[in-house]
Amino acid sequence: MAKASVRQADVKGKRCLVRVDFNVPMKNGVVTDDTRIRAALPTITYLKEQGAKVILMSHLGRPKAKVVEDLRLGPVAARLSELIGAPVKHLRDCVGEEVKTAVMAMQPGDIVLLENLRFHAEEEGNDPDFSKELASLGEVYINDAFGTAHRAHASTAGVAAFLPGYAGFLMEKELSSLGKLLESPEKPFTAVIGGAKVSDKLSVLKNLLEKVDSLVIGGGMANTFLLAQGHKVGKSLAEPGLVDEANAIMEKAKSLGKQVYLPVDVVVAPKPEVGVPVQVVPVSEIPDDQMALDIGPESRKAFAEIIKKSKTVFWNGPVGLFELEAFRGGTMEMAAAVAQVDGLSVVGGGDSLAAVEMSGLADKIGHLSTGGGASLEFLEGQVLPGVAALKDA
Ligand code: 3PG
Repeated sequence: MAKASVRQADVKGKRCLVRVDFNVPMKNGVVTDDTRIRAALPTITYLKEQGAKVILMSHLGRPKAKVVEDLRLGPVAARLSELIGAPVKHLRDCVGEEVKTAVMAMQPGDIVLLENLRFHAEEEGNDPDFSKELASLGEVYINDAFGTAHRAHASTAGVAAFLPGYAGFLMEKELSSLGKLLESPEKPFTAVIGGAKVSDKLSVLKNLLEKVDSLVIGGGMANTFLLAQGHKVGKSLAEPGLVDEANAIMEKAKSLGKQVYLPVDVVVAPKPEVGVPVQVVPVSEIPDDQMALDIGPESRKAFAEIIKKSKTVFWNGPVGLFELEAFRGGTMEMAAAVAQVDGLSVVGGGDSLAAVEMSGLADKIGHLSTGGGASLEFLEGQVLPGVAALKDA
């Protein structure tokens, strides 16, 4: 069911309580990647232009219900202010008398950013009293935090019991792009799934298998599939306990007439470090004392061909240890192939986004999802609590 849009809300002069996902990487008090802040700008700018009083709330990191100075949102307010070209007042808490006084003094067009919600245990506990107190700050609730929509927390779900809830523009864009993958993907549809572990992605693999024509598997998780195929993987990261699951996925693919592509060659090294000797070997010849850390040239070529022939591509998870230059080639070639798709390309997950940024091809991708866990749970077919809580359209 489509959700009511912020465009349908009466926001003029109103106190709009907006959940954003400003859970961004920071170093020494400076935001090092502002993608998620930029992604929320359309909603914030719209509300400001409509003369709303914009009260932003977010979590940052996992402070475990106590105040952690390094996880205050001050640097985020500063970056947002630069991007939007207007003052953004950072409050030192998200509830309490001082917050209430500051919010009640706001003028139309003003923007405040509440302090990290997760300094309070009640946020993750989805406590009704806390939700009510947060809700009392606003007259309208807007959720633009797609990246946190898979969490049933006070600010993502609880507040909607007390205020009418609308989807922000980023939330809408995410739901429509990811929704297309599930509902009406143009064929052929290929999913490229990488990353370290099969266990993190079992459900999404199973659900996507029903939708895609081809499943391309790379990264650490491919090793478990290689084990299932009877190969030895040396010291590579693998989950032997999931070999049966991997076999079941390959069997299911066969019965559905879907193709599963695994690496045929890999780049191996004795350990994942700078300066170690590397070599390319076929997957049937991974030495006992080596670990697979990237896909090899034959695999890159085969994967890239499948990707480029597709009309719809979803990519989540790097196919190698791309943080180290020696094992980056496979992931960069996947980014280049996804960027050439003549159709809809969607990339989700923090590592894949970082890889796309590194490749310099971000502007060639159809949709860069700001949700890692959220995009996977959505593609698993799960209802996201932060979406379910909003008004129906
Ligand atoms: C994310 O970065 O995936 C979201 O902000 C959610 O964060 P969390 O995994 O700490 O709930």
